[in-house]
Amino acid sequence: MEIKSAKFVISNSDVKKCPESNLPEYAFIGRSNVGKSSLINMLTKRKSLAKTSGRPGKTQLINHFLINENWHLVDLPGYGYARVSKKDKKTFQKFITDYFKDRKQLISAFILVDSRHEPQKIDLEFMQWLGENMIPFAIIFTKADKLKPNALERNVEDYQKKLLETWASVPPYFISSSSKEIGRDEIINYIEEVNNSL
Ligand code: GTP
Ligand code: MG
Repeated sequence: MEIKSAKFVISNSDVKKCPESNLPEYAFIGRSNVGKSSLINMLTKRKSLAKTSGRPGKTQLINHFLINENWHLVDLPGYGYARVSKKDKKTFQKFITDYFKDRKQLISAFILVDSRHEPQKIDLEFMQWLGENMIPFAIIFTKADKLKPNALERNVEDYQKKLLETWASVPPYFISSSSKEIGRDEIINYIEEVNNSL
C-alpha cells in the first residue's frame, strides 16, 4: 500500500473524545522510549508527524493520524515509565486501558518491544491483559539496527519461546528499525491485508 496522505487529527486523554468516524484503526503501544512515535513516522514516511524524543515520556496523549483518508494510526503514551507515583508505577494508565476497552474501531494493537532486551514483565502483562479483553495484537521488535543479525534472531526466538509458555500460539510479529527503514513494507502490507479482510 502506498501512503498517499497522513494527517494529524486530534490528541486527547479521553476515549470518548476520539474521532467519531467508523474507520478502522491500529494502535501502537509499548514501554516509553521503545520507538512507537518513530515507527509511525517511518511507516508514513513523514519525519515529524509524531513527536519523538530521546527522553522517555514524550507522548502523553492518545494521538490519531488519518491515513489515506480511510484508516487511523494511533500513537499512545508509553507505559512503564514512572513520572507517576510509585503506587501507580506498575499499572497501566486508566485512559489507555479505557481506550483499548472502549474503542470499537480498534482492529489491532501493535505491542512494541525493544529487540535488544529479554521479555519484560510489563510487556507480558500487557499482552495478557489484551488477551483477557479479547483485543487482537501483533508484536513489533524495534531498534533492530542496534543488534547483530545473530543476536537479533536469538532474541526473537527466545521471545517466542517465552510466549509459548503461556499462549497457545505466537501472534503475528515483525522486526523493525526506524532509522534503517526495516520492516516498513511488512507492517504496512499486514495492515492493508487486515483492512481488506474487514
Ligand atoms: P514515548 O513517547 O516516550 O513513550 O516514546 P516512544 O516509544 O514514542 O519512542 P520514540 O519514537 O520517541 O523514540 C525514542 C528514542 O529511540 C528516540 O531517541 C529515537 O530516535 C530512538 N529510536 C526509535 N526507533 C529507533 C530505531 O529503530 N533505531 C534506533 N537506533 N533508534 C530508535
Ligand atoms: Mg512517543
